[in-house]
Amino acid sequence: MGVGYKDIYQRYTQSILSGSLKPGEKVPSIRVLAQDLGVAKKTVEAAYDILIGEGYLVSRGAKGTLVNPDLKFRETPPEAPQPLEDPRLQELLELRDNPGFLRLGIPALDAFPHKKWLLLSGKAIRAMRPEEMMSPPVMGYGPLREAIANYVNISRGLNCSAAQVFITSGYKHSLALILQAMTGARDKVLFEEPGYFFGQKLLKRMVQNLHYVPVDDQGLDVDFLLRHHADARLVITTPSHHSPLAVTLSLPRRNRLLQWAQSENAWILEDDYDGEFHYTRKVQPALKSLDTQERVIYVGTFSKTIMPSIRVSYLVLPKSLVGKFTETGEIVETGQPLLPQKILTAFLSDGHFFKHLKTMRSLYQARRMMLYHALQRVYPDLFEFEQTDGGMHIIAYLKQGTQDDRLANLWQAHRLMVFPLSAWYAGTSRRYGLIMGYTNVPSEQEAVRLVSLPYRETMALLATA
Ligand SMILES: Cc1ncc(COP(=O)(O)O)c(C=O)c1O
Repeated sequence: MGVGYKDIYQRYTQSILSGSLKPGEKVPSIRVLAQDLGVAKKTVEAAYDILIGEGYLVSRGAKGTLVNPDLKFRETPPEAPQPLEDPRLQELLELRDNPGFLRLGIPALDAFPHKKWLLLSGKAIRAMRPEEMMSPPVMGYGPLREAIANYVNISRGLNCSAAQVFITSGYKHSLALILQAMTGARDKVLFEEPGYFFGQKLLKRMVQNLHYVPVDDQGLDVDFLLRHHADARLVITTPSHHSPLAVTLSLPRRNRLLQWAQSENAWILEDDYDGEFHYTRKVQPALKSLDTQERVIYVGTFSKTIMPSIRVSYLVLPKSLVGKFTETGEIVETGQPLLPQKILTAFLSDGHFFKHLKTMRSLYQARRMMLYHALQRVYPDLFEFEQTDGGMHIIAYLKQGTQDDRLANLWQAHRLMVFPLSAWYAGTSRRYGLIMGYTNVPSEQEAVRLVSLPYRETMALLATA
């Protein structure tokens, strides 16, 4: 049976009463809806007449028909999301949706070059050619791949061509794609301990033979890897600034790691997520810059340098893997949205990116000191800090006690979105502290105000530690 006027009436009342169609929203004209539903105009007309008569819809002449803007409903609370099995993940997702302060891993939102971006967006939309409205290229937009190759060669010391660059939509996408293309069910995969929380989650789900390699003040413990896991197929590491400890992998260890990969035909995934931000000495080139034997898959992202919601990241593949990734990509991928790639290309190629990075570096350096000073002033005996070179967060290590979990909860209740360091460990041996982002701290005074908010609860908790 076809759609009758009662069905149309019911669909509208349901949508309006459930709040999915809101007061003031425009509804399709009688002619358009009749065509869409494949019914006679008079069927829709009959339904609209009743809906107007009952006050659900109003007709505004040339403006069309709207859901009555004067309708008032009691706000229906949004359906409660189903709780996740993993309580820690649940907690993180709740934090993610609440911007708060001291948030980890985001760039300075007040310093985003809006005007420039708007200008380039307009240009990119105007220049959209008909062929660019079809499916985007799976490996990424050609000019962006070129611009990235130029950038990483100049800035991070790589020596790659555009053909080696594969555009992805973030770290998890990059990691999943690499696992799919490179590893079999039994292959041993290594991850840092401690290591990036979301990376660890994804690996636990996707890799059966997952092992951990400890990290100390020189970065990944390569000797441990050689002693216990020389048979691994892939190691995932953050050499520029370890996540989250922010230590830099030493040169001797870099060389040993590369030698191991070469002699065992293993692969290294270099996650250079915030390698752009060094403040205390000259910028260290990426591990991949030493990779003469082509064993390193380099993973970069624009989440830290532009904004996370742009969802543009990239792999730089060893030449020998380009064919394999092209094939895997063509089977399992559909390419990334083209427009953001075009805007980003203009931002990179017109020299704005380098200027933006320079501004961000000095801003972050200053903001980092503001947060340090504020913490030292408000909590002189509570935390200790280690000298690290850069990145976008600091770790305030607890001098005493192991309750970073509870402490983080207390701070989060004041919308201070800090994370407990212990949560980044997969095993039981761990260090304790709060991980804090400083990129959005506007002044030292504000930093003092913010970190003082949970002062009483913090002191009370530590008195019981
Ligand atoms: C260790 C690490 N790798 C990679 C990323 C980048 O993730 P994405 O590109 O998905 O934003 C982050 C972001 O927080 C990170 O902390």
